[in-house]
Formats: sequence, structure tokens, C-alpha cells
Amino acid sequence: MLSVRNLHAGYGDSEVLHGVDLDVEKGEVVAIVGANGVGKTTLLRTLAGLIKPSAGNATFKGQEIGGLPAHRAVESGLVMVPEGRRLFPRMNVRRNLEIGAYTTRARARMNENLGTIYELFPFLREREAQLAGTLSGGQQQMCAIGRGLMAMPDLLLLDEVSLGLAPIAVKRVYEALGQIRGTGLTLVIVEQNVTQALRAADRAYVIAGGRVVVSGTGQELINNEDVRRAYLGIGLHEKEEASL
Ligand SMILES: Nc1ncnc2c1ncn2[C@@H]1O[C@H](COP(=O)(O)OP(=O)(O)OP(=O)(O)O)[C@@H](O)[C@H]1O
Ligand SMILES: [Mg+2]
Repeated sequence: MLSVRNLHAGYGDSEVLHGVDLDVEKGEVVAIVGANGVGKTTLLRTLAGLIKPSAGNATFKGQEIGGLPAHRAVESGLVMVPEGRRLFPRMNVRRNLEIGAYTTRARARMNENLGTIYELFPFLREREAQLAGTLSGGQQQMCAIGRGLMAMPDLLLLDEVSLGLAPIAVKRVYEALGQIRGTGLTLVIVEQNVTQALRAADRAYVIAGGRVVVSGTGQELINNEDVRRAYLGIGLHEKEEASL
């Protein structure tokens, strides 16, 4: 579904990604992990059309998307849920969801999709008239995911979905992602919460120095002590928890 080859991108003269290669198959959950500031968000933003790559290729469903403007990426079915949720706090839940349906294709099926999202997250229906800023952190994250779904993605890129959430909210958000995955959607999750992401993922890529340095199944990476120590900063205790 997504194929990235030798992708270079950054900000002005400062290159952050020095040749990233990765693949995502239809229906997979793929995690991208790595230390703070290695360029995970930059990678997602480049795929979503918010940053123009300086070299390399990214193809989505067989079409080159590197350098396409963001709205074209969304139209083709590649949608990003940004870090920090970015809801409109003074608009109600329903309006925030509707804003996600901004392509012609999605607008035409807005009510139908809203119904599907309300089935997935019943609390959003109950609170549709409530201001988004008054939801709890976990609820806001699910609202932001719902807004992404309103754009009718084939591939959803999620940046730091669990950041700043209480453990119970993290659990709920990941349960929701499991349900979404069950609908056949393909997910790419970027997380500082490495253990959580690796547990949820079929496969994972570790980024360091602007490149993919290791890849494997989530469990392989959790179990690889060298990888854990060198790139992931997770200790043995967490490893044991992760493999439970
Ligand atoms: N808008 C920007 N302009 C210039 N440099 C930026 C910009 N955004 C990020 N950077 C730099 O690019 C590098 C990669 O940042 P990026 O946000 O992609 O990393 P990350 O892996 O997502 O980090 P984090 O774990 O903190 O989310 C960092 O050195 C950062 O300072
Ligand atoms: Mg980031």
C-alpha cells in the first residue's frame, strides 16, 4: 500500500531524513519508533504532503505521492491524525468531526460516515453537542481519530496518539485502534510510548540518524536487547511487561 524509498526531507537547509526506506502492506499495523527528535513526525508530515521531500520516492497505492499537496494526499486516502489532537476546543464534537470530511468524496458521504464513527465511539454521539475542549484527553484523542476517519482514509497515520494520556485512556485509545484495524484500515503509528506501539504493531521500524536502522515484528524488537538498549530506551522490566 505504501512504499518509501531513499526518502530525504527536512527544514530548509537542515536535512532530517537521510534516506528512509519502508513498506506498509494493506491491513497492517506498522509502528515507527525512535528517540526524541529523530524525525518521526517529519516522516509522517512528508508522507501527508505537508513537507516536500528533497529526494527519494513515496508511492501510495501505486501512485507517487512525494511532493503532492496535502489535500491531494487526503483525497487519495492517506490521512494523518496529528500529534496534540488539534481539535477546535470551542466547537462542538459533531462540528469537529464534520470538519474532517473536507474532500468532495467524504462530504458526499458525511452523514453515513458520522453514523459509522458514532457506532465505533458511542460516547461521541452522546456528546456530539459538547464543546470538544471539555472532553477528557482520551476522549479528545478518539475525537481526533474520528475526525481523521471522516476523511475516509485507506491509510491512517497516527502521531503520538497516547502522549500525555493516563494509562486507562491509553488502553481505551489502543482498543479503539484495534477495532478500527478490524474494519480493514491500514495504520501507521508513531509513538514515544515504544512498548505500547510495539505490542500493537504487526511490524515496526526503528529510526535513528535519519534512517531506518532496524525492522522486524513488534515482538522481535521488544525481545532484542541490543535494540532496546541502543535505540528504544526501554529496560528489562518493561520488556517483561511488554511480552505478557
Ligand atoms: N518546523 C521545524 N523547523 C525546523 N526544524 C524542525 C521543525 N520541526 C522539527 N524540526 C527539527 O527536526 C528534527 C526532527 O524533528 P521531529 O519532530 O520530526 O522528530 P520526532 O522524532 O517526531 O521527535 P519527537 O519524539 O519529539 O516527537 C528535530 O531536530 C527538530 O528540532
Ligand atoms: Mg514527533
